[in-house]
Amino acid sequence: MSIKYYAKISGTGMYVPDKILTNSDLEKIVDTTDEWIRTRTGMSERHLAADNQAASDLAYEATIKAIKAARIKTKDIDMIIVATISGDHPFPSTACILQQKLGLKDFPAFDVSAGCTGWIYAANIAKQYIETGVAKNILIVGVEILTKITNWTDRGTCILFGDGAGATIISRAGEKDISRFIDSELSADGTHYDLLIQNAGGSRMPATEETVKENLHTVYMEGNKIFKNAIRSMYSACDIVLKRNHLDVHSIDWLITHQANLRIIQALGKKMKIDEKKVIVNIEKYANTSSATIPMALDEAIRNKKIRHGDIVLMASFGAGLTSGSLLIRI
Ligand code: UT7
Repeated sequence: MSIKYYAKISGTGMYVPDKILTNSDLEKIVDTTDEWIRTRTGMSERHLAADNQAASDLAYEATIKAIKAARIKTKDIDMIIVATISGDHPFPSTACILQQKLGLKDFPAFDVSAGCTGWIYAANIAKQYIETGVAKNILIVGVEILTKITNWTDRGTCILFGDGAGATIISRAGEKDISRFIDSELSADGTHYDLLIQNAGGSRMPATEETVKENLHTVYMEGNKIFKNAIRSMYSACDIVLKRNHLDVHSIDWLITHQANLRIIQALGKKMKIDEKKVIVNIEKYANTSSATIPMALDEAIRNKKIRHGDIVLMASFGAGLTSGSLLIRI
């Protein structure tokens, strides 16, 4: 495909609900300890959505900040892609609900289901639409409320997740702009689809009294099998984009990976031989917010002036599917 225009990130925003659940709070819910959670995951606390908050509510708050940062008007948005596995409803898409909340209509709005890699998938799709000249300002949002589909009796999963949203405006870059998407790689390995799954509620296992009683509408995960796959797949996605662009790890100013486990982030950093000061980590405050971890970390790092205009940022994620992907960008 020949590139007609370049895409760039023109604005970011994030939102987390007010309620905080600490590791000590979790000690009162399941047989766990603050020490186990900190040492095995790097997490200290996470934010929980209120009963009356759904994914589109979190997405809306993050979007308003991203629109302001991008210095565009809401009506300049010409496509919405929401990455989520915990949307407001199984259908319609959360993107359409967000479109309605923003007072917009008459352009494409759709959700992407790629688990924790969802925001990278959405960014890759947005890149194609900008580069071909079809769209000018695409709103992409990674948003999850996994705590509403969490099995609070399973200590192997309930300690891991938090709620949040990260919104990003992807715009057509100007001719003299140095900010631009450099490359992106996506992949999936469906042979492991059952390692991380919400078993009931779809056409394979429709909702019944039994499925609710057996907690089959909540997240099921074989954590340690995913752990090994996560490092391998993110390393591969990063290696592919670096090699394809004749770059090495020294050319990278910042690495942002999916925040699922501090040990995964550190193991990947070690395998890539990247200076640990270049690796952005905020897992201690928000835990695993699935598709929202990368856009939230990106927004925070830009707002606290860690990531600056012109910096090269490599991002990588993995998740349910099993999906994986990377994104190489000049901010
Ligand atoms: O977002 C994308 C998808 N998700 C992930 O990326 C998750 C990837 N996996 C992980 O982060 C880790 O596998 C976990 C944090 C989920 C688990 O850590 P682990 O080091 O792989 O532990 P494990 O599952 O191998 O369990 C080790 C022990 C077990 O006890 P025994 O059998 O050795 O006696 C577990 O029962 O730790 C026990 N355990 C806990 N103990 C205290 C598991 N969860 C807990 C807990 N508190 N919350």
